[in-house]
Amino acid sequence: MASSLEDSVQLRIFKIIVIGDSNVGKTCLTFRFCGGEFLGGSEATIGVDFREKTVEIEGEKIKVQVWDTAGQERFRHSLVEHYYRNVHGVVFVYDVTKLSSFHNLRTWLQECEGHAVPALVPRVLVGNKCDLRGQEQVPPGLALSFANTHKMLLFETSAKDPSEAQMVDSIFMSLACRLKAQKSLPYRGPGGPQSSGGKGAVGGSRSVCPC
Ligand code: GTP
Ligand code: MG
Repeated sequence: MASSLEDSVQLRIFKIIVIGDSNVGKTCLTFRFCGGEFLGGSEATIGVDFREKTVEIEGEKIKVQVWDTAGQERFRHSLVEHYYRNVHGVVFVYDVTKLSSFHNLRTWLQECEGHAVPALVPRVLVGNKCDLRGQEQVPPGLALSFANTHKMLLFETSAKDPSEAQMVDSIFMSLACRLKAQKSLPYRGPGGPQSSGGKGAVGGSRSVCPC
């Protein structure tokens, strides 16, 4: 939970949405970043879960607000507009052990384009579940080529493996660093959107800027 001191000052808020097929690990990745641990027994997200973490980049405290969206179509439709409104960064996730989740990235890109997310909004690509060694179905070269084509950084990692915690941090911090460099992003008061079934604010710890 953010401290009362943080609540009393105006922090910039960066809204980052996490999208991808159901079961690829979006909730576990956002929980690893905001909560610092692996969320055992996670269930399919209904609508959107909202978490946030205050980070410090070059002396400035910033709220990274992570919108963890449902991968299942039946849990998304009425809320999609809200995800994309005023979004500052997008994390696309696939499961390295499930080729279909990689192929479906095209659909997620199309959805993003369909909601007129500006080209300047930075995007990153995440291949999750790298701890499942020997079960990989998505060749790293293929993922890299896709990432290059779409001008995204690629992260291959695991929300589950504690030794990957810093890599998971880097996913969100790389976006936050790029957004911090875009000086035009406004300051807004404390607080954020309410979500359906959201977990609320978590975090407040500091992350290292990877850039
Ligand atoms: P939806 O909410 O339905 O869109 O799914 P999601 O993308 O949020 O997936 P979620 O984070 O709920 O994880 C789905 C399943 O994958 C759960 O059983 C997790 O325990 C498991 N999982 C998530 N991340 C990892 C990982 O890095 N490694 C392994 N082995 N399992 C993972
Ligand atoms: Mg989820």
